[in-house]
Amino acid sequence: MPSNRSLVDDLNRELRLPLFVAPMFLISGPELVIAAGKAGVIGAFPCPNARMIEDLAAWLPQIASELAAAGRPGMWAINMIVHPTYPRFDAELDLICEYKPRIVVTALGSPRRPLDRIHAYGGAVFSDVISAQQARKAIDAGADGLILVATGAGGHTGQYSAFALVEEVRGFWDGPLILGGAIGSARGIRAAQALGADFAYMGTRFIATPEATVSDDNRDMLVRTGMEDIVTTMAVTGIPSNWMRESLDRAGFTPETLEVKKKIDFSNLQDTKAWKHIWGAGHAVGTTRLVQPVAAIVDELVRDYRQLVAAEASAPQWPNDLSHKLEDNAA
Ligand SMILES: Cc1cc2nc3c(=O)[nH]c(=O)nc-3n(C[C@H](O)[C@H](O)[C@H](O)COP(=O)(O)O)c2cc1C
Repeated sequence: MPSNRSLVDDLNRELRLPLFVAPMFLISGPELVIAAGKAGVIGAFPCPNARMIEDLAAWLPQIASELAAAGRPGMWAINMIVHPTYPRFDAELDLICEYKPRIVVTALGSPRRPLDRIHAYGGAVFSDVISAQQARKAIDAGADGLILVATGAGGHTGQYSAFALVEEVRGFWDGPLILGGAIGSARGIRAAQALGADFAYMGTRFIATPEATVSDDNRDMLVRTGMEDIVTTMAVTGIPSNWMRESLDRAGFTPETLEVKKKIDFSNLQDTKAWKHIWGAGHAVGTTRLVQPVAAIVDELVRDYRQLVAAEASAPQWPNDLSHKLEDNAA
């Protein structure tokens, strides 16, 4: 295992932008992950997106070999559910240890469970958390990195402001830190770095792409949806999550049923009926104004990021030194 900060240094050298394309249920598969890696950022997908374990056994060598052939080995990550109700944990971990993704993102539970086996092959475990308290627990459990999901994220969302969340966590953690939640632009990536994050995590911005496994109807809805049409509810999965109002309306939710908390259960994620028609997106949905390939989005972010950095040189140089003015006034 490289030391924590050396992983950040390695990624800073290898990536085109400090960016992870976040894993999304039913949306990210090999095509999206490979396109992200080829474009020069890290792509990730959740294991349950492979409907059968045999599908996962086919996806992993495909991703590893296509990225290696493109000269971008190791430019991918995988997301596994560690919640005790999730039945495929052991089978997925066996495959992960065989194909050795560089980063394993654990969601919905302690990162402790898969840690030793992932460290044994040289991989790093990043824990997805939504509060400073969860961050402390993940660090105590041995996580190598943290993903802070702040308010405004698509899918399962945090509730805390990115400003406060990164600030509090940086008070006790100087290891790798990824910030997600409502980041959809180069300005957002730059802001995440200014707050103290090493990398940005973007999900919503990459849904309206040909590589995402969603319907054209879902892509079109993203293009016409604005932040005020994003609804946070526990009625779909039992966990606070953000969805496009239009899809909730179509699925028959009412203001009353949106208030009802569903029981949390990850024992049958292969039953995807609900998610097929209720479509997640976060507050950054307004950054999607057309359907674009992953490479085009990354190129645009790279161009905008360059312009931002160039503009910083001619920006007002704070802080102003006012001491001479006080002296002038005194005289
Ligand atoms: C439709 C959708 C599905 C998601 N599914 C998952 C998932 O299966 N596992 C996971 O760890 N995160 C999931 N996420 C959360 C993302 O990984 C990430 O935290 C989030 O998209 C970041 O916020 P943003 O959407 O504002 O960019 C999902 C997000 C969306 C939009």
